Amino acid sequence: MSSNRPIKGIIVVADNNESAREPLVELLRSNCYRVIAVENGEQAFNAACSQPVDLLLLDVMMPGPSGFSVCRAIKARPETRFLPVVLLTGIARAEDRLRSIEAGADDFLHKPVRQEELLARVRSLVRLKRYTDELENAEAVLCILARSIEAKDPYTEGHCDRLSRSAVSLAEKIGLSREVCNDLRRSGIVHDIGKVAVPEFVLLKPGPLDAGERRIMERHTTVGERICAPMRSFRNVLPMIRWHHEKQDGSGYPDHLMGEEIPLTARILQTVDIYDSLTTDRSYREALSQARALEIMWDETRRGWWDADLVSTLEGMLEESPLAFSMVGA
Ligand SMILES: [Fe+2]
Repeated sequence: MSSNRPIKGIIVVADNNESAREPLVELLRSNCYRVIAVENGEQAFNAACSQPVDLLLLDVMMPGPSGFSVCRAIKARPETRFLPVVLLTGIARAEDRLRSIEAGADDFLHKPVRQEELLARVRSLVRLKRYTDELENAEAVLCILARSIEAKDPYTEGHCDRLSRSAVSLAEKIGLSREVCNDLRRSGIVHDIGKVAVPEFVLLKPGPLDAGERRIMERHTTVGERICAPMRSFRNVLPMIRWHHEKQDGSGYPDHLMGEEIPLTARILQTVDIYDSLTTDRSYREALSQARALEIMWDETRRGWWDADLVSTLEGMLEESPLAFSMVGA
């Protein structure tokens, strides 16, 4: 390989059989991949967890953990779950293909593998890994932006992380799926990201906003939705960003949705959002007690603002564990 050609990707090749491993390593190196060659499953797992890697090529039968169990372990870790894994086997058994699918492998190839086929698969999986990396970076940038907006106001610091955890607890309590909880976790962080477009004299005004200022502030829902819309992984987060200030009686914004027109996830987020803002210090008042906050929430629920079932679940959770949604542990 000529040393001035750019590296196309970093690949871990795991096979205890040197005569099978070395030709593979040689082929990949001569095609501009950096290769980490290892002899067993444990080394492959450690290599993938300790450094940036773009692809794992694992022999199924190895001393120690098999290719299947390494693949399962890689896919179970949040940090490596998008790392592509290709399993290689010398024996063509139908059940191995099934097991590789169950283990979450991205591909399954028989040895000896045709060179062109292997290179084509490697190329497309490394490209896929790069796309997921870019997506994760974009997501990280959005979270940094959301936190930097939050940090402008000393009274709301820590609010997003707390909201994330509280929204997930409430969603888990009513039995929503792990995917939905994950969307709620993200929306807790980014729901107010549109405040980036709100001038500071409005954002940080200590007193009540006048009508014009309120209109500017209300735009944070639609601006936030626009900022996050290009991210496909945020598809289910967008309704929470847009509709977390809607009210059951249609008096909220931006679309005056009513009752169940407001998605359940947006109602969950707003329930914990209101509770959190009532029980933390603000520039215009000190934190209210839990009992007073619930009193206000029930008053507003009777006025037709909030979802009574969710307020009741939140109240029940607080009775079970008074610190369920508090700042403790934040
Ligand atoms: Fe908001």
